Amino acid sequence: GDAGSETPAELGFAAVPRSLEDRVVLPDGYQASVLIAKGDALFSDIADYQNDGSGEDFDKRSGDEHDGMEFFGLGAAGVWEPNASERGVLCMNHENLEDDTLHENGVTDAADNGGARPQVEIDREILAHGVACLEVIKEDGQWRYVKDSAFNRRVTGATEAVISGPCAGHDALKTKLSPAGDKGFGTLNNCASGRTPWGTYLTCEENWFSYFNRNDASDARSAVENDLFARYGMGLVSKGFSYREWDTVAGDMYQRFNISVIGATATDDFRNEPNTFGYIVEVDPFDTASKPVKRTAMGRFAHEGAIFAPAEAGKPLVYYMGDDSRNEYLYKFVSAASWDPADVGMGTTAGNKYLDDGKLYVAIFNNDGTGEWKELSFGVNGLDAANPLYPFSSQGDVILATRLAADHVGATKMDRPEWAAVNPMNGECYLTLTNNSGRNRTPDTVDGVNPRTYGGSGGNPNGHIIRWREEGGDHAATSFDWDVFLFGAPADKDAQSINLSGLTADNDFSSPDGLYFDQRGLLWIQTDDGAYRDTVNNQMLVAIPGEVGDGGMLTFTNDFGAEENTTFVGKDASAVDLRRFLVGPKGCEITGITMTPDARSLFINVQHPGEGGSAANFNTDVSTWPNPNGDALSLGNGVSRPRSATIVITREDGGEIAL
Ligand code: FEO
Ligand code: CA
Ligand code: CA
Ligand code: CA
Repeated sequence: GDAGSETPAELGFAAVPRSLEDRVVLPDGYQASVLIAKGDALFSDIADYQNDGSGEDFDKRSGDEHDGMEFFGLGAAGVWEPNASERGVLCMNHENLEDDTLHENGVTDAADNGGARPQVEIDREILAHGVACLEVIKEDGQWRYVKDSAFNRRVTGATEAVISGPCAGHDALKTKLSPAGDKGFGTLNNCASGRTPWGTYLTCEENWFSYFNRNDASDARSAVENDLFARYGMGLVSKGFSYREWDTVAGDMYQRFNISVIGATATDDFRNEPNTFGYIVEVDPFDTASKPVKRTAMGRFAHEGAIFAPAEAGKPLVYYMGDDSRNEYLYKFVSAASWDPADVGMGTTAGNKYLDDGKLYVAIFNNDGTGEWKELSFGVNGLDAANPLYPFSSQGDVILATRLAADHVGATKMDRPEWAAVNPMNGECYLTLTNNSGRNRTPDTVDGVNPRTYGGSGGNPNGHIIRWREEGGDHAATSFDWDVFLFGAPADKDAQSINLSGLTADNDFSSPDGLYFDQRGLLWIQTDDGAYRDTVNNQMLVAIPGEVGDGGMLTFTNDFGAEENTTFVGKDASAVDLRRFLVGPKGCEITGITMTPDARSLFINVQHPGEGGSAANFNTDVSTWPNPNGDALSLGNGVSRPRSATIVITREDGGEIAL
């Protein structure tokens, strides 16, 4: 590839029309193949996956619901070669489960099975979560994964991890299985991803709180502890929305999901188990024997991704991170240590240097297009023992209760911060705000950066994308300028209050989620939408984005006409080269994206095709992707249950993607 220092002036393909078909639709001249699908064996000592609800050994198979991923090029010596484009280690998250297709007859409830779920189902579920790392290689123009590669590895919902940073050894992380508070077991519901400049993978724990059972009113915690748990979605009496009755079978590895059992001391029980989750987790793709490391310094919340600003020697490393829940916040982490390129290849040892010590900040967006980063450090900004929200007595406390610390400093409540991306050409930062409900974004609570509420139920059903430029171009700065890049919308809706950016049938989208800058400065946008799925399946677009402030003023009046919130800086899409590049099969979300350095291979994930189907027919009334009848991808056993999968996109002429 000839990735230069200038963003290309124009995209080189014709936009893909909207589609509701059960297939991947690409521009003319492009092709896609399935690289690895749910259940595919990483090793040859287990049986091939049948996709009929059988299959165990998910610690040796692809997990379910492929999500964020990163490509690490492999050189001949078997070490990271950042410029390698035809062989690499692909690391990806397995966020969640399609239980209906994972098991033979869907989930067997405990109540229908003598009070305990079948252990075979529970084990399959725990192991199908987490991370997969696999060697991938391009031979004769065709990509495949390498079965039995020494790089193949699974991190699951049970894998032992090291707790590192300010929360290591904290009393609130001590459990029966970790009396010293220095380890955790497994990683759950990992969404977007990140990477470090020294060559490790970052996986981000998102809806981890939703797996726990706090359903016993005798769970008598202190008021402080109860408030903390409630702020993280685990109030008394509650079962999380992903609670799967894992605690209905015996054994500590299952009982840890019941957090209502309070013994004599915290090391007799699992009251603190959720405090071992909610972190950025570092995985070394090149050392399969290494333990994952939970980097607590980077905050504890519903982590979406950890997107790094390009590393510069002698400067701190900076990561941007969204907390994807309604009305939650945008954070950044600035390392204490300055980047030394000699640390490339040092694995998680380098992580100990750069990710355990630094400053965490949360964003405040002012209505005038400026913003500031508020520091979340113990003893700073009122984060001390006298704080009215939480009695902070250490940085470990600040991290444990990150959301309460951010509440205290007046952070701006956002319309669900999902992925961030940094433009390699100018350092500008982008963030998807996927959507918000009418209950959480009301006419009384709109602000400049979350300006919309409309429709019958109000809220911001189509989401938007914002961007900011750090003061002086310095990612460690504490102030910035921002604007709205694009508002999602159906193209045929009223331009005044809904289709504010003037999207067309060739580029309209709703609920932006995945976001990625490739090395040429092209911005890729992926959707996870429910509001517009009757018109177009989830999709991926690409843009030549321009820069902060170049859109001019977009003036509009909200439905409610609140005087102080009527004018915003935003962009008219007619001024952006924005084109739909891909539409996915039915019921899926498009998420996860990484490109080879030569810009000739693009990996993306098709997550949960068939969502919205029923257990009775394994969702096949919605989708059979990637195994449509007669398709070469069929397993040949007559089973067409939809499966999450990674696809790799190339041009038929071998050229650069999108140009
Ligand atoms: Fe797992 Fe925020 O999407
Ligand atoms: Ca997401
Ligand atoms: Ca989403
Ligand atoms: Ca998802």
